[in-house]
Amino acid sequence: MPISSSDRPDNATARLAGLLESAMDAIITVNAAQNILLYNRAAETIFGWPAAEVLGQPLVKLIPQRFHASHGGHMKRFATTGVTSRRMGGSNLVYGLRRSGEEFPVEASISQLDTPDGHLFTVILRDATERIRAQEELAAYAAQASAIREQEKTRVARELHDELAQSLTALKMDTIWLRDHAGTAGADVQAKLAGMLAMLDASVAATRRIAADLRPLVLDDLGLVAAIEWLTQNFTQRHGVPCALDMDEDLELHEPYATAVFRIVQESLVNVAKHAGASQVQVQVVRAGGEVTLRVADDGAGFETVTPRKAGSLGLAGLRERAQLLKGTVSITSAPGQGTVVQAHIPVQEGHAP
Ligand SMILES: Nc1ncnc2c1ncn2[C@@H]1O[C@H](COP(=O)(O)OP(=O)(O)OP(=O)(O)O)[C@@H](O)[C@H]1O
Ligand SMILES: [Mg+2]
Repeated sequence: MPISSSDRPDNATARLAGLLESAMDAIITVNAAQNILLYNRAAETIFGWPAAEVLGQPLVKLIPQRFHASHGGHMKRFATTGVTSRRMGGSNLVYGLRRSGEEFPVEASISQLDTPDGHLFTVILRDATERIRAQEELAAYAAQASAIREQEKTRVARELHDELAQSLTALKMDTIWLRDHAGTAGADVQAKLAGMLAMLDASVAATRRIAADLRPLVLDDLGLVAAIEWLTQNFTQRHGVPCALDMDEDLELHEPYATAVFRIVQESLVNVAKHAGASQVQVQVVRAGGEVTLRVADDGAGFETVTPRKAGSLGLAGLRERAQLLKGTVSITSAPGQGTVVQAHIPVQEGHAP
């Protein structure tokens, strides 16, 4: 079994050969000219080529055509860094090419060494197909769970609004009728009825408020722009803090984007109310360059963003998760006394609503 063209049959080499052959990861060494000198059994399994057919061949045999040009550049740059080893591709995925012509994602690290045989590069890699498939499946489940939570909130909000609030309103009408027909009753009965009316008013208001916080029906009935307007006006009404809104009048986003934008602005405003003590808030929602950007900025207390998350603080984490589900990002800029800016970028398809 060919391990290296310069193999010598001593014990150390035999041990090394045994190690290479039993490794789970593919191990491939190339010389400065990018020709393959070493190719272990795991590499045979992963790439589908027997060692005999790749030893002495150029490494690009194992790399998809579309990466050939950039690969050469990467190798040259790596050679000049003087770094002995590093992960390949950084945060990007690296792809391999099987004998069958199939491309597959790999996790790989590369190292370099000057030897009597010249400058050698060794790549250690594993097939990441399964891991990435599992990751995508998990993301799909998370997106589905998020959609189901929204549906459930919508259902409960509708029931509260249409059933409970309606019944309470009907009860209030009847109570008014009773009061108007209880002319001869004593002052204690009149007082009781007045108390009941006040309580019914409060109950209707509470039911409407709870329903709206769960999921404002305007979001489904009138769309995102109306819902965000409602959110900012409601914020000012409840907390007495002015909230400027900058938003395209005709911004239209389909689900799940509309809900995500709404929820991110909502949680950011709840945080401003809870933590900031701000005197001014700005909300901005713009769609440009294939993404929707939203920004909620307050001039309040600010906070140390590097401090570890408090137990039970789920808001900002949930906000990040929401953006990530849609392949977006969230950045939070804040410092004590400097106010807070929450900014999210979510990619949406240009041309038509997603
Ligand atoms: N706009 C803000 N101004 C000042 N501090 C903030 C602001 N937003 C967040 N924070 C700080 O960041 C912490 C984390 O916020 P996060 O929304 O994750 O949790 P929470 O609001 O405390 O709880 P939860 O959102 O789960 O009800 C807050 O406790 C607060 O100290
Ligand atoms: Mg919060």
